[in-house]
Amino acid sequence: MAGRASENSVMPDWYLDGLEHVWLPYAQMKTLPAPLPVARTQGSRIVLTDGRELIDGIASWWTACHGYNHPHIRDVVATQLASMPHVMLGGLAHEQALRLASRLAGLLPGELNRVFFSESGSVAVEVALKMAIQYWINCGAPTKSQFVAFKAGYHGDTTGAMAISDPEASIHALLAGIVQKHQLVDLPEGDATTATFERLLAERSESIAGIVIEPLVQGAGGMKFHDASVLQRLRAFADRHDTLLIFDEIFTGFGRTGSMFACEQAKIAPDIITLSKALTGGTLPLAATIATRKVFNAFWSDDPKKALMHGPTYTGNALACAAANASLDLFEKEPRLRQVTDISAALERGLAPCRGMPRVKNVRVKGAIGVVEIDRIDDLDCLRTHFIEQGVFIRPIGNIIYLTPAFTIASDELKTLTDAVVKTARQLNR
Ligand SMILES: Cc1ncc(COP(=O)(O)O)c(C=O)c1O
Repeated sequence: MAGRASENSVMPDWYLDGLEHVWLPYAQMKTLPAPLPVARTQGSRIVLTDGRELIDGIASWWTACHGYNHPHIRDVVATQLASMPHVMLGGLAHEQALRLASRLAGLLPGELNRVFFSESGSVAVEVALKMAIQYWINCGAPTKSQFVAFKAGYHGDTTGAMAISDPEASIHALLAGIVQKHQLVDLPEGDATTATFERLLAERSESIAGIVIEPLVQGAGGMKFHDASVLQRLRAFADRHDTLLIFDEIFTGFGRTGSMFACEQAKIAPDIITLSKALTGGTLPLAATIATRKVFNAFWSDDPKKALMHGPTYTGNALACAAANASLDLFEKEPRLRQVTDISAALERGLAPCRGMPRVKNVRVKGAIGVVEIDRIDDLDCLRTHFIEQGVFIRPIGNIIYLTPAFTIASDELKTLTDAVVKTARQLNR
């Protein structure tokens, strides 16, 4: 491999040349610590070009639920690549997309059975919002175009998704002024917030198209957990006040909270659900917005104006759908949900020493999500570097140190991750 000496190690040419031209996510490019050059990935390991191996604590933004490079997904994608990487879904159809649509419909609760494919979580959310607004237009209630969403919620980076995300808890504060205004409220958890919430729905029923929530866990906004009863309450309110319920399961879907979908724990189904991230087991970008028969029926008409006018170029990409089908095979063939239960117990045990540390505000675990909430973290970059020095890849957000490993992680690897978090928490408490 060609390379040049840089600071204290040899960096490959592609790295040194390319770094001048790439614009990285969520980064102040001027002060950003240099990203780590990765040579390959395997299981729960990220292998750097200098040979170092890091145990991955976050599974590439929560996607790689079967670990990296699972041979079954690789084989299925390779076979698909040889026959047809992509064909447009406008006027054409192919087996991978249609099989995936029927499998998702079979897995999801209730009548969630119409699948619209896109290529990122944010776009899946945009489609959900558009679907909800047009649902009401098609039903003859065009004033219903606002959404109720929740403080600490995060739904993506496109402008529609930003508008229903909490600008304080997410990264959109700077642009809060330019996006459409919706109702951003407290979760209806206690008596007072529940009463306020229902009053809002009753008073604004004419203008509210839907309620949007990340069920059970608000992820990027702080890994905040709520009870399944909140979701049951939302279902009842949505029905009573004639609005749609939209679950954003882009993070929580595919086993992360302990059940295949978080909504199963509340024993209710939303009217629209969004999925992405672990949909392809972290292999290729793919997202889906799935509507119930009720929602779809409002678009089913002889009138072309009642159609959903949305169509990403790569909608239903065959490679991505093949990866998703292979990922679903693995959920069928391998004991993923049992692995999540085991991870949950190991996270509880492994993070327990953080409880009671003066600067630790809370330690919480749900499914394969382990969280240590610190009172404040002054230098996130420094903390991230500190983790890398310990041989682990962990990226706290705000004051939240969290682990969301692959479900296939080995128990000694998971212990290395929890030990690193405990050691770091101890240092922060010194
Ligand atoms: C709940 C939720 N919704 C939407 C998104 C946006 O997904 P993407 O980054 O693929 O656009 C995310 C990303 O973290 C998410 O966690």
